[in-house]
Amino acid sequence: MPTVLITGASRGIGLELTRQFAADGWTVLAACRDPDGASDLRAVSGDVTTFSVDVDSADSVTALKNAVGDRAVDVLLNNAGIIGSRGSFDDLDYDAWAGAMNTNVFGPMRVSQAFAGNVLASDRKQMVFISSKMASIAECGGGAYVYRSSKTALNMAVKCLSVELGSKGVTAMMFHPGHVRTDMGGATAPVLPTESAAGMKGVIENLTTSDNGRFLNFDGTPLPW
Ligand SMILES: NC(=O)c1ccc[n+]([C@@H]2O[C@H](COP(=O)([O-])OP(=O)(O)OC[C@H]3O[C@@H](n4cnc5c(N)ncnc54)[C@H](OP(=O)(O)O)[C@@H]3O)[C@@H](O)[C@H]2O)c1
Repeated sequence: MPTVLITGASRGIGLELTRQFAADGWTVLAACRDPDGASDLRAVSGDVTTFSVDVDSADSVTALKNAVGDRAVDVLLNNAGIIGSRGSFDDLDYDAWAGAMNTNVFGPMRVSQAFAGNVLASDRKQMVFISSKMASIAECGGGAYVYRSSKTALNMAVKCLSVELGSKGVTAMMFHPGHVRTDMGGATAPVLPTESAAGMKGVIENLTTSDNGRFLNFDGTPLPW
């Protein structure tokens, strides 16, 4: 069975993706900041190995790469992310903004650089990035400067990556996972983590190179940039 490496596997969408890939027999390399404290993750049955990573830190990403080694990674699933500050125009927190850029943009790019060789060595050669519909400039309703701009920047970085690595056979694409009932999405969010993860897993299983550079909803429908 294929191998998937998932960041932010301790809770929320990343935990549910871990559960569903593992339940389907995939080999899951589940990375999070505190594997020892991630009791829900450690309770997942199947071929799951936990690893430590803080995507904010280049040294931590290098340590993850060293721990995983050269094994092939069919799907690199960059899920870890933060909301950052929710401040309005009169209340912009530049430190929080820098932090969100580090976690939501630099983090997945660090991980992708570190694991590009592992992905290229695999059969599927897929890189998946959990972005957000809030990245869409076409559909921007205002507010959430920090989160929106970090995910828009992620989309552009992934688009560039998709052009460069696409020539080597990599398929790199972005998802909006839905408004999902997690710590980030809130208790009244309409989409359950099980629904979001099942939708994205189904799309991932059917990805082809023609999907390189696409921005899709968790049900597979295209989203406006
Ligand atoms: N929920 C939604 O409605 C929604 C909508 C659109 C997009 N998204 C995106 O979906 C992804 C998952 O969100 P979620 O709803 O599952 O959020 P969540 O419940 O808040 O979980 C976030 C995950 O990211 C991890 N993480 C945060 N910073 C990290 C870092 N520096 N290094 C490594 N891991 C880190 C967290 O680890 P710890 O447990 O260690 O904190 C946790 O596992 C994010 O990229 C988010 O932006 C979510």
